[in-house]
Amino acid sequence: MQDNMLPLFDVKAFRSALGTFLTGITVVTTIDAEGIPRGFTANSFTSVSLEPPLVLVCIGKGASTYGAFQSAGYFCVNILSEEQKNISSRFSSRTAERFSAVKWRSGACGSPVLQDVSAWFECKMHQQVDAGDHLVLIGRVADFAQSTANPLGYCRGAYVTPSLMQSLLDSAFTSQLRVGVILESSGALLLHKNEAGGLGLLTASSLGSRDDPSSLLGRAERLGLKFSLSFLFSVFEDEVGGKNRVSVYYRGILEETGGLDGSLVLATEDQIPWDQIIDDNEVRMLRRFIREAQDKVFSVYSGGNQVTTPLAVSG
Ligand SMILES: Cc1cc2nc3c(=O)[nH]c(=O)nc-3n(C[C@H](O)[C@H](O)[C@H](O)COP(=O)(O)O)c2cc1C
Repeated sequence: MQDNMLPLFDVKAFRSALGTFLTGITVVTTIDAEGIPRGFTANSFTSVSLEPPLVLVCIGKGASTYGAFQSAGYFCVNILSEEQKNISSRFSSRTAERFSAVKWRSGACGSPVLQDVSAWFECKMHQQVDAGDHLVLIGRVADFAQSTANPLGYCRGAYVTPSLMQSLLDSAFTSQLRVGVILESSGALLLHKNEAGGLGLLTASSLGSRDDPSSLLGRAERLGLKFSLSFLFSVFEDEVGGKNRVSVYYRGILEETGGLDGSLVLATEDQIPWDQIIDDNEVRMLRRFIREAQDKVFSVYSGGNQVTTPLAVSG
């Protein structure tokens, strides 16, 4: 089929489907013609060849760093570790002040090697391939190293942290469990009123199934709620009645909002009666949810750390 015969499709949908590919995150760095360090966040990194050792990364032609990379003789691909979400954000933001957020040194070929990354590959520019709105930079690896730091992952617009999954499993078997959900519908959030009139998120002692009325899915069924759960949003430990409890909150999208049960309230940010929400953890969680929904990047809070993983669930 000729190019002009290929079907046109929605760029947003295309981008969203591409976003299901789970990747790592890199910061690609170089030194520009003025001797200034330049870099951008990229998840288009791929290994290409072992002999010779080649890797590639794609840079958008509209990027402020495009000229610097197009004329670069060397560049370095830094694989970010799970502690470096802030560096990913910094190197993908509009700020020119990117390198002040991270410690770095010059590699053997002169490119900036970032500190505390999971691995880095310093490359000599091998080939450039013009490809649509991006330029493919193929580098021949001249030097590299790796550390034991867990790599940061990325999928569907959220960060993924492998170590969180392990810590979650460790604590889930030794504690009481509270499973909750932040349900959203067109920018409004769902709150549940308890018998005393206090407000909170919908929670239960397990995720369960729609047939088990004591579980989260069963409670939702009885309240007539139709929703899909998406990602994990928050995991933390606290104490109730002297016993350790692990709370696990998911994000979800309400599919139908007609005929809500009288104990349910849908409220936008400015309508939420914050002082009526009983649990301070839920207040903090909801405020973070609103902030991250505005920025369109969700992370997962775990214990005292802001770590991130989009754990998908079925049901
Ligand atoms: C997770 C993530 C992955 C990205 N991957 C790429 C990429 O592979 N190639 C690219 O050119 N830009 C990528 N970007 C966007 C750039 O980091 C950056 O935002 C873009 O180059 C615009 O930067 P500018 O402000 O310097 O123009 C990515 C951003 C994020 C958050």
